Amino acid sequence: MEASPAHDAHVRFDHVRMGFGERAVFQDLTCEFPRGRITILLGGSGSGKSTLLRLLGGLIQPEAGRIYVGDDEVTGASEAALYRIRSKIGMLFQGGALLDSLTIFDNLALPLREHTDLAPDAVASAIHAQLEAVGLTNVDHLLPGQLSGGMLRRAALARAILREPEILLCDEPFSGLDPSSVKRIELLLAKINHERGITVLVVSHHIASTLRLADHALLLLPGRSVEGKPAELQRSEDAEVADFFDEDHSVDDASLTPTESFLP
Ligand SMILES: Nc1ncnc2c1ncn2[C@@H]1O[C@H](COP(=O)(O)OP(=O)(O)OP(=O)(O)O)[C@@H](O)[C@H]1O
Ligand SMILES: [Mg+2]
Repeated sequence: MEASPAHDAHVRFDHVRMGFGERAVFQDLTCEFPRGRITILLGGSGSGKSTLLRLLGGLIQPEAGRIYVGDDEVTGASEAALYRIRSKIGMLFQGGALLDSLTIFDNLALPLREHTDLAPDAVASAIHAQLEAVGLTNVDHLLPGQLSGGMLRRAALARAILREPEILLCDEPFSGLDPSSVKRIELLLAKINHERGITVLVVSHHIASTLRLADHALLLLPGRSVEGKPAELQRSEDAEVADFFDEDHSVDDASLTPTESFLP
């Protein structure tokens, strides 16, 4: 194993190169995601945000460079090692992705039945605890199609945190939601992060949320990336960075409160 990671880095990308065929996505990406914090991943469509999450989970391997999750190296890991690393990662996929033909209860039961030896009543109480944590009750027997967009996103979030992950990856958790649902998902992510100390990575186009929610931001630009506190990036003198924040990537909700107010 290499030198131990910086004390607060939960995830590290070290000179990662990645592409698909002729298309280079990352030429030389080096970045860190701090432990126990919320990091927002920003960048235009096609800049590589989802690719970064898939690399982190070892779903795809880079062409060069190394990726670490805690003390584990994802790059070059065996299937058995990847399985163990992934068991510490919860993922809310772009688009939500619950299975349409299964009830909400069975959608959540699936990963528990597959990966744990929990007895049926323990499965049920784990599911109900997480559904309650995201503010959903009496949805056991409903199919995903019978829930609103915001409820569906919360059910998917409940599933992502079901196995008590150390890292939660959320790909566009706000997309397609009305402002009050956006706010509700934000509150939940802040609560999950605060109460459980989970490291959260959120992909978002939603600049207003970014500024409220995140401790740290990574902006993917063509051929390079920039890291820092969201407010610092917003004030950046780097024209390309400032341009990203100037463009209208966010909905109008300037009246929402700053991150601190989410905390008890
Ligand atoms: N499996 C794949 N095969 C070929 N090209 C791919 C594959 N996955 C991603 N790409 C390409 O890699 C680039 C980055 O894609 P990615 O999905 O990471 O972008 P993104 O930043 O998540 O975009 P969006 O905001 O639209 O979700 C795109 O050009 C995409 O076409
Ligand atoms: Mg994407």
